[in-house]
Amino acid sequence: MSFRALLISQVDGKVTSGLTTMEESQLDAGEITIAVSHSSINYKDALAATGAGRIIRRFPCVGGIDLAGTVTSSSDERFSVGAQVLATSYDIGVAHHGGYAERARIPADWVVKLPAGLSCAEAMALGTAGFTAALAVVRMEHNGLTPASGKVIVSGATGGVGSIAISILAGLGYSVVALTGKVEETEFLKSIGAQEVMLRQSLDLAKIKPLGSETWAGAVDNLGGDVLSWMASTMKVGGALASIGLAASHSLNTTVMPFILRGVSLLGIDSVNCAMPQRSEVWRRLGSDMKPRSLADMTRHISFDQLPDAFAAYVEGKARGRVVVDIAG
Ligand SMILES: NC(=O)c1ccc[n+]([C@@H]2O[C@H](COP(=O)([O-])OP(=O)(O)OC[C@H]3O[C@@H](n4cnc5c(N)ncnc54)[C@H](OP(=O)(O)O)[C@@H]3O)[C@@H](O)[C@H]2O)c1
Repeated sequence: MSFRALLISQVDGKVTSGLTTMEESQLDAGEITIAVSHSSINYKDALAATGAGRIIRRFPCVGGIDLAGTVTSSSDERFSVGAQVLATSYDIGVAHHGGYAERARIPADWVVKLPAGLSCAEAMALGTAGFTAALAVVRMEHNGLTPASGKVIVSGATGGVGSIAISILAGLGYSVVALTGKVEETEFLKSIGAQEVMLRQSLDLAKIKPLGSETWAGAVDNLGGDVLSWMASTMKVGGALASIGLAASHSLNTTVMPFILRGVSLLGIDSVNCAMPQRSEVWRRLGSDMKPRSLADMTRHISFDQLPDAFAAYVEGKARGRVVVDIAG
């Protein structure tokens, strides 16, 4: 059977990507074949498809680190034909043909049954961004964070991870402060649950003290670099700081002071290697108490044909909310 796919190739050292037709026999090995109905766009997908980041580990590769759809064939007893499933990360879309295709074949150990409370489209409105945001909240809660602990700040607020983190935290009763570079998105950020909006431009990141004023009980960082350093120095005693992304920088210049004088915990959030028991539990919560109330408001749908032109905004830091790719039309 032939199907459409967005294939990422490397020619003379240059990364190119485009829509093409493939055969099921060209798919990688795996126990589960899926008729993909929806995928999504994450920052990592944009870096992979444009070559702006060295993401692809095996060329050519069908892009798309997220996928959801219906099982069409299974040699694993955990998944029957007709079951609705989702999968994110592992090698998907970076070293194993991914979700930007009407068919995917992947190992059963990477597959999650669609949790109660989510459709395939909603699961992809969440995607890796939503899963990672939820994982960060779960890790901060395990670290003792509760709504009574104080304010939680979220950087890269208008992006996929940031906007879902804001909506999840607001839904759980937290007082959320959105940190953004986009003044024009203030109303959007308030509409999805931010109590306050801070502009990144208003921070004096050239003068970060080892210990600044104690402000944040929790923090979700998508940027790295100076913003993460500033967050570390302004955490309250016992605060939890979840490091997710590097949209601004992969560097971190800080001191040990927040960690040894305020007991601040720096939590590394890794969605790719998250073990299946915790992965399934986070997805269960995403379909129940952590389901973002503003998910529909922050999600835009595009067709498969529109996908190749959709990546540039992410690379330029202009993304807002989440984009679902309607693979099945
Ligand atoms: N650890 C993991 O497992 C994991 C999983 C998923 C994503 N990530 C990482 O998390 C980050 C966010 O992912 P995403 O999918 O939410 O990306 P996204 O949708 O592209 O959003 C990123 C947001 O960060 C801000 N931003 C972008 N470039 C910036 C720059 N140069 N300087 C300062 N701010 C900038 C912008 O928001 P504002 O203008 O509102 O600030 C932008 O909307 C990425 O670095 C991604 O690689 C990590």
